[in-house]
Amino acid sequence: MTLRPTPLSDELFDYLVAQGSSPDAVQAELIAETATLGHEARLQISPDEGTFLTLLTKLMGARTALEVGTFTGYSALAIVRGLAAGGRLTCCDISEEWTRIARRYWDAAGVSEQIDLRIGPALDTLRSLPAEPAYDLAFIDADYLNYTAYWEEVVPRVRSGGAILVDNVLYHARVIDPDDTADTTQAVRELNERIRTDDRVEATMIAIADGLTLARKK
Ligand SMILES: C[S@@+](CC[C@H](N)C(=O)[O-])C[C@H]1O[C@@H](n2cnc3c(N)ncnc32)[C@H](O)[C@@H]1O
Repeated sequence: MTLRPTPLSDELFDYLVAQGSSPDAVQAELIAETATLGHEARLQISPDEGTFLTLLTKLMGARTALEVGTFTGYSALAIVRGLAAGGRLTCCDISEEWTRIARRYWDAAGVSEQIDLRIGPALDTLRSLPAEPAYDLAFIDADYLNYTAYWEEVVPRVRSGGAILVDNVLYHARVIDPDDTADTTQAVRELNERIRTDDRVEATMIAIADGLTLARKK
């Protein structure tokens, strides 16, 4: 029998988040400003996931990272905080409006020089990058309909032994609802199945936030 994750009440979730390292002052301000966007604020990864990204990046000694889906810049800040000295992060997003906020906070954090933000459809940006395994870590957190296409562009660009993370892989439990035939739900299911059968990686789904796949390229 597989040991299930302990169900998280609101109180237990607050405890879990509080036991981890807190976002730093700039990250906390960014989270607060993003919250003022209202409904869109839910696009941002959660603080415990941000801390996880920073720790994983540090533990790997990563120097080069790639992000698909930047929004107001919190996950990028989490990753760049974990990079080894001189490390660089390439970010892909289509929104000037949201990434303008990101740039302000990256400036405040003193990390702008380490981030190469590419504005445009992420698939075009990814295809414009050299098809070489140049990245230590990649994080995919953008539009679901392109999830599998992003995966196929990202995997060859990550080095052997590198990490590929994909957010929202449980899609609010919609992935197991047989009545849910929405295009987005099908797209997340398709990517999950692609990863499960992809011989190039070994992977696990982590029960954090809305589900995070962590894959290691063989
Ligand atoms: C879930 S949000 C990313 C959240 C971010 N990782 C964070 O934690 O703050 C998804 C982002 O994908 C971007 N996006 C949507 N479609 C895109 C596309 N075709 N190409 C590039 N970016 C896209 C949106 O502009 C949005 O900023």
